[in-house]
Amino acid sequence: MARPKVAYLCSECGAAFGKWFGQCPECGSWNTVQEQAVPVAAGGAAGYAGQRTPVRSLAQIAVAKTPRRSTGIGEFDRVLGGGLVPGSVVLIGGDPGIGKSTVLLQAACHLSREAGVLYVSGEESLEQIALRARRLGVATGRLLFAAETVVENIIATAEAERPAVLVVDSIQTCQTADIQAPPGSVSQVREAAAHLTRFAKGSGTAVFLVGHVTKSGDLAGPRVLEHIIDVVCAIESSPDNRYRLLRAVKNRFGAVNELGVFAMTDRGMREVRNPSALFLSRHEEPLAGSSIGVLWEGSRPLLVEVQALVDESYGEHPRRIVMGMEQNRLVMLLAVLHKHGGLATFGHDVFVNLAGGIRVGETAADLAVAAAVASAMTGRPLPADTVFFGEVGLAGEVRPVPNGQPRLAEAAKHGFRCAVVPAANRPPRPMKGLTVRPVARLAEALAVSQP
Ligand code: TYD
Ligand code: MG
Repeated sequence: MARPKVAYLCSECGAAFGKWFGQCPECGSWNTVQEQAVPVAAGGAAGYAGQRTPVRSLAQIAVAKTPRRSTGIGEFDRVLGGGLVPGSVVLIGGDPGIGKSTVLLQAACHLSREAGVLYVSGEESLEQIALRARRLGVATGRLLFAAETVVENIIATAEAERPAVLVVDSIQTCQTADIQAPPGSVSQVREAAAHLTRFAKGSGTAVFLVGHVTKSGDLAGPRVLEHIIDVVCAIESSPDNRYRLLRAVKNRFGAVNELGVFAMTDRGMREVRNPSALFLSRHEEPLAGSSIGVLWEGSRPLLVEVQALVDESYGEHPRRIVMGMEQNRLVMLLAVLHKHGGLATFGHDVFVNLAGGIRVGETAADLAVAAAVASAMTGRPLPADTVFFGEVGLAGEVRPVPNGQPRLAEAAKHGFRCAVVPAANRPPRPMKGLTVRPVARLAEALAVSQP
């Protein structure tokens, strides 16, 4: 008999090797390379010449328009790209206790009113789940529960019950009889997910998988799962721990980086419908060093307060501390502010904070950050009814950013009366209640905002 083949896989990056390493040669992580038993491939005989597969043109492929199902939670639907697609596999990741089971149970209760739902838990007893479901107080329909961890049994049960939606909590507790590895190991997680994905595609059942996050903050075996799963969502908590942020990391049916905001209450996760209000703090009177930027999160605008503090530095090297954006970007903006705005910050510590714990990945925050720093430097408050967005270039020019129109609409919706924006983002028609100040250079923006 041939010896079973053994491979070594890195649980961080998913790279495969023929031997063991203490440090993964691909991603450099330590102690992540684990031994994996390789299932013997069927039909892989040597010298197989291959068979022709039928091919079709785009026009020949019929696409049925399948209605998406609503989870009953608007923010969740939006993160999924407009509801749950039949036959899709959605992974919900996050730290223990963040609310994965809660939000899925809420969604399961709601979905069961229109379609069969099977909720399989390998983590909690049926009594615990029932208690929680009662406490959530969501009306239910055809909702069935099972406590099971063996994937083959889960699939057999689902084949018999034919639910439209299957929830598996969690993928780390699942095991398949195919391979000899403990539950939660990379190969078990991957095989279990592959089985469930095949079942979803074959039966049209939408599958939700819960995935825990490892100590380093990654889903166990994230890379090995990502390519087989349609939607990967992560639940994070806001730094003050009051809110839960649901983010689509990958979505085959919608926009990525779509953000849903929730609050954890005694009756489950409640959506926060107007998150712009969350990241804004209205001050009684204008404060120096505070500006309002219009950022873009996923597919919608978000108003965020940018705070800056400029203080005399007593150290050898002045400090540049930022929360919520890249530090190098701030250093660059300070250089541009000096060269093209006439504001020198050497000899000063500069602190910048984006209120509400939001993180910005786009350059549209540049203008708001520059305005906040300039205001902190001069001690003159910016007008309280003004918002900023735009990228600042090294030559001191203000460059356009995508989605200018919806950003302006969001500012107007929240009662702002003036927007300082890149000249190329000037709206084609005047906007009701909002004065738009198009600027081409940083110096112009500073002059406009601090007359
Ligand atoms: P849970 O959904 O079990 O987390 P996960 O499945 O991600 O591990 O959430 C557990 C936490 O949520 C726990 O600390 C209690 C809290 N919670 C509420 O505050 N209100 C509720 O209605 C529920 C069900 C849980
Ligand atoms: Mg749980």
